[in-house]
Amino acid sequence: MKYTMQPGGSLVGQLRVPGDKSISHRSIMLGSIAEGTTHVTGFLEGEDALATLDTFKCLGVNIEGPVNGEVTIHGVGMHGLTAADNDLYVGNSGTSIRLLAGLLAGQSFDSVLTGDNSLSGRPMGRVAKPLAEMGALIEAEEDGTPPLKITGGAELNGIDYVLPMASAQVKSCVLLAGLYAAGETSVIEPAPTRDHTERMLRGFGYDVTVDGAKVTLRGGGKLTACDIDVPADISSATFFIVGACIAPDSDITLAHVGINPTRIGVINVLRLMGANIELGNEREVGGEPVADIRVRFAPLHGIEIPEDQVPLGIDEFPAIFIAASCASGKTVLTGAEELRVKESDRIQVMADGLITLGIDAQPTVDGMIINGGDIGSGVVESHGDHRIAMSFAMAALRAKGIIEINDCANVATSFPSFVELASKAGLTIGVSS
Ligand code: S3P
Repeated sequence: MKYTMQPGGSLVGQLRVPGDKSISHRSIMLGSIAEGTTHVTGFLEGEDALATLDTFKCLGVNIEGPVNGEVTIHGVGMHGLTAADNDLYVGNSGTSIRLLAGLLAGQSFDSVLTGDNSLSGRPMGRVAKPLAEMGALIEAEEDGTPPLKITGGAELNGIDYVLPMASAQVKSCVLLAGLYAAGETSVIEPAPTRDHTERMLRGFGYDVTVDGAKVTLRGGGKLTACDIDVPADISSATFFIVGACIAPDSDITLAHVGINPTRIGVINVLRLMGANIELGNEREVGGEPVADIRVRFAPLHGIEIPEDQVPLGIDEFPAIFIAASCASGKTVLTGAEELRVKESDRIQVMADGLITLGIDAQPTVDGMIINGGDIGSGVVESHGDHRIAMSFAMAALRAKGIIEINDCANVATSFPSFVELASKAGLTIGVSS
C-alpha cells in the first residue's frame, strides 16, 4: 500500500486517536490470567493488539469482542491457560512476543512464538537470557531471533535482573515470568521506561513494589479481574502533535490521551524546541493519567535532545525527526541506539527518507544530526514500519511537492483509522495498492 501526500495544509479540530497499544496488549494478557471477568473499553483494534488477543484465544481463553473498542475477557486464573494447537503467530508485534515469552515460560505446556519478516529479524536474546537465568527452557534461532521455542513445565526461580538496556518489554517479560517463579523477582532499570505493567498489575490487585529503579514482585499470587479504560495512545497522537507544530495555522486538540510520565518524552522534547503544547482537563483513569492535548503552530528551533528523554519517547523519534527537519538550526540526538532494532532500523530508514526529501540528515551509531531546512518532494520507503509511514505523511504539511510513501500497510498494526483521521484533520492523502 502506498500513500500519495499532497503538500501543504494545516491541522485543525478535535480528535481522539485510537487506544494505547501497550495498555491494550497488557489488558488482554493480565485479564486472561486473572480470576473473573475483565471489561476493557477503548481497546486498540489494531493488528498488533489483535495478535495478542488471538493468541490468548488460542491458549483457551474466552474473549468477546472487540466491538467498538469493548472487549470482555473471561479470565482463566494463573494456571488456566491451555496448550495451543499450533505455533502462535504474533505478526509485527515485538510487545506480544517479548511479554508472551515471559508469561509462557511459566506454563506447564510447550509453545512456539513466531512473527512476520520484520519481527523475525529482531533481537530476542534480551528476553531469552533472563528467562534462562530464571530456569526457563527457551530457545531462539542461533542469531537470537524468533521463532522462540518454550518448553513448559520448568520450575522458575526469582532473580534480581539488572537490565542491560532501557526496555519496558524486557522488564515486563521478566516480571510476568516472576508471577510464576518461586520467591521474589526484581528488575533494575538503567533509566525509567514505561510502567504500564506495574500499574496494571496493581490494578488487578497484585502487589508490586517500586524502589527507585528497582521493581519487585513475589511469585505465586493471583490477579483479580477489573475494568480497564484504555486512554488514547500518545504514540499515535504524536503524529498530529508534530503535524500541528510544523504546519502554520494549525490548532488541534487530541482528546483523552495517556500522559503517563514514562511516555511524555515527545512533549518534553517538542517543548524544548519551542512548541506550543497545552495539557487540559488532566485526570486519572484506571491508574493512568490522561489529558486533552492542544497544539498550536509555533516556530521550532533545533536542540540537543537530552538523553534521559530517549526511553520516555522511544517510539516517537521518527516523528521528532520530522519536527527537527522543520526547525531552525541543528538538532542532535544521541543515546538512541535502540532505534536501530525497532520495526525497522529507524535511524537509517528515517535518514534515507529525509535525505531523499532534501534534508541534511546525518545518521550516527546512536542517533542523528539534522539541520532544519526545506522539505522537498520525492518517493520515500517506510520499510513496512508504521511509524515511519505516518511520520513522512506529516512531513507533507511542510513539503514543497508531493511525497509518495511506499509500504504503508503496517500502519494498521497501531493506527488502522490513520488515513481517515488525518484526512479529517487536514491532510490530503491518496491511498493506492
Ligand atoms: C513497548 C516498549 C517499547 C516500545 C514498544 C512498546 C511496550 O519497546 O518501543 O513499541 O509496550 O512495552 P522496548 O521496551 O523494547 O524499548
